[in-house]
Order: sequence, then C-alpha cells, then structure tokens
Amino acid sequence: MLKIGVLASGRGTNLQSIIDSIQRGDLETEIRIVISDRKGAKALARANKYHIPNQYINPDDYATKEEFEQAIINLLEEHKVELVILAGFMRLLTPYFVRHYKNKIMNIHPSLLPAFPGLNAQRQALEYGVKIAGCTVHFADEGMDTGPIILQAAVPVKEGDTEETLAERILQEEHRIYPEAIRLYSEGRLKIEGRVVKVVE
Ligand code: GAR
Repeated sequence: MLKIGVLASGRGTNLQSIIDSIQRGDLETEIRIVISDRKGAKALARANKYHIPNQYINPDDYATKEEFEQAIINLLEEHKVELVILAGFMRLLTPYFVRHYKNKIMNIHPSLLPAFPGLNAQRQALEYGVKIAGCTVHFADEGMDTGPIILQAAVPVKEGDTEETLAERILQEEHRIYPEAIRLYSEGRLKIEGRVVKVVE
C-alpha cells in the first residue's frame, strides 16, 4: 500500500478529506505521518484523532531552510514515505527538497493554474474579475505552483462573492480532486511526459 506523508500548516481540511476517503475505502493509502511547521495547526489535532503519527517542526530551530527541510526529510524517511502531500503547506520548498523527492510531491492550489499562483489565489481571482475559478492538483517542481498538472476542477464565481464564499466553493472541489489524484498515483496511472501528466487506464 502506498505510504504517504502529509505536510500541512493550517486547519487541515484537505488532510481530513484524504482521511475520509481512506476510511470510506475509496483510497488504498496509508498516511504514515503528518508534519506541520505551525505549532497549533489543527491538522495535527486531526491526525491525533485518528492515531496518525504527527509532528510539529519549528523552522526557527534551524539555521537554514535546508536544515529545516532535512529534518522533515529525516522524518519522512523514518516513516518510509513514498509520496509527499502538501495540504495547505504555506512554504515554498527549496530545490534541495524538490530534487530529493522528484515527481513524488503533490500540491493543491486554490486556482486554475497557471492563473493566480502564490498567496491569496482566491482574492487574486476576484480582483482580476474572472468568472470561472477553481483548483489544481499538481506535482511540485522548483517553481511556485508551476509543476505538471494532474487534475483541475472549475467552479463559477458568483455575483457578490467574497474571498470567503469563493474559497469555500473551491474547497469543496479540492476535497474531491485531491484524494482522486492520490488514488490515480497509487494505482500507477499517472505518467509524466515533460510537463504533461497523462492519466492512463
Ligand atoms: C487550501 O485552500 C489550499 O488549496 C490552500 O490552502 C488551503 C488549505 O486548507 N493552499 C495554498 O494556497 C497553497 N499555496 P486546509 O488546511 O483546510 O487543507
């Protein structure tokens, strides 16, 4: 069974959707560890609830970004993690980490990439005035939200939307496509050709 490690900085609703998919029997994957760079992250409490090993790693304890990431890598290796899942992990990984797990890191981003990478994607979409927003699951590369796209889902932007209402509508789709992308990976059905990901039968 595919062993995954989840990196999360915040409330962890995407982590929850993965846990729920596993519990429903829709996803044959084992979450070996949940790691957070924020002490009070709700994601850690969610992991605890399901007896999933979890760990807070304080970035301030390390002199460099690479040393901080090495601590994460050590934990992931200790738990024999084969695929790293970024679920609201609000830090850009260095090339060192990305190369270590080349094509073995997935990220979810709340926009239809390549539109609106980076922070506050939903606000960017509202301010730009797009009528269709959405989310993207992609493999992480060395850029900011630039890696090969695995799955996307679109939602309408409605009149009167706020950042919160739009984020919530997008989040519903995130919770659907992230477990789905992990399932495809676990079934060996994702083939990366250049920057294009093919879903094979
Ligand atoms: C999600 O909307 C995710 O797409 C976004 O943070 C939220 C985390 O929510 N990620 C990014 O913006 C990454 N640049 P969660 O903690 O409830 O899963």
